[in-house]
Amino acid sequence: MNIVVTGGSGFIGRVLVRSLLENGHNVTILDRRHPDEVGVDFGSYAPQIVIGDIRDAIKVNEAISGQCEAIFHLAAVTSVLRSKLDPEETFQTNLAATHLLLEHARQVGCTKFIMASTNAVAGDVGERLINEETLLRPLTPYGATKAAAEMLMSSYSTCYDLVCTSIRFTNVYGVGMREKDSFIPRLMRAAMDASEIVINGDGLQVRDFLNVRDALQGLMLALNQDIAGPLTIGYGDSYSAIDLYNCVCQITKVDIPLRYGPEQGGEMRAVRVDIRRAKSLGYSPQLGLEEGLAETWLDFRKSAPV
Ligand SMILES: NC(=O)c1ccc[n+]([C@@H]2O[C@H](COP(=O)([O-])OP(=O)(O)OC[C@H]3O[C@@H](n4cnc5c(N)ncnc54)[C@H](O)[C@@H]3O)[C@@H](O)[C@H]2O)c1
Repeated sequence: MNIVVTGGSGFIGRVLVRSLLENGHNVTILDRRHPDEVGVDFGSYAPQIVIGDIRDAIKVNEAISGQCEAIFHLAAVTSVLRSKLDPEETFQTNLAATHLLLEHARQVGCTKFIMASTNAVAGDVGERLINEETLLRPLTPYGATKAAAEMLMSSYSTCYDLVCTSIRFTNVYGVGMREKDSFIPRLMRAAMDASEIVINGDGLQVRDFLNVRDALQGLMLALNQDIAGPLTIGYGDSYSAIDLYNCVCQITKVDIPLRYGPEQGGEMRAVRVDIRRAKSLGYSPQLGLEEGLAETWLDFRKSAPV
């Protein structure tokens, strides 16, 4: 298939692009950054690359031609904190640009649109399980713009010949995340130089940690089947920030200095997901947290290209 991947130079995008190329697809990356710039190596494969912003109609036009059969849309403002600092940029990137891409997909006759969404569309559900039926009450511009993009996609799925799937990922981690700034890479960096790590709040907030290889499985499911609407993709088990800290100390054999900081606004207290819909479609997460963290730690310790 001819497939466009926005955000193909990013952490999840590069894993997806590599897999698509290995499976014989023609891939065009649309990203602000060239893969070389971030040390991404696709080996003997050569994706086409359009360097530009997804908000720029000329670049979108360049990347998505009449031959395009599927679009994976991963480029976004991905940081919750950045979305709070710059809600306007978040709106333009996560929502307006998604509309531009959907419109373009419709006009060229592309029939599949798969977006990386997030469990953050749900907002504060207390201790309840999050699934595809959960009411959407996002807490931040990040969650809100992803939720709004999902609504646009829902309308394109029903009004046009374009199957739109929103893959609601939990916290994705794994090999290739050295440039990221989420809790796991911060823990890994702290273990490398024995510096202090800060846990915001009481450390009892829980998250579902999804290895990037299992995230890939979710994306491929949406490519290989026609799944309209949202799909929750997580590991299906949750751990507290303290559990995670202890696990990283054990794996790295470093007693990382720990400090507690103030609770951050817009944080969900608990993320526990119900992945039964995905499982009924063939999804089966493979990598448990300990194994996945051990692999990630090895990756942090080597300085080879990502
Ligand atoms: N990593 C996670 O834990 C996680 C969890 C849930 C959902 N997601 C979603 O998955 C997707 C990919 O996440 P990631 O962790 O790989 O992010 P990333 O930040 O590593 O990669 C995003 C890529 O998009 C590109 N990009 C950003 N804004 C752009 C723009 N305006 N125009 C062109 N390119 C742009 C960046 O250059 C980068 O290469 C995002 O949509 C994110 O919201 C990620």
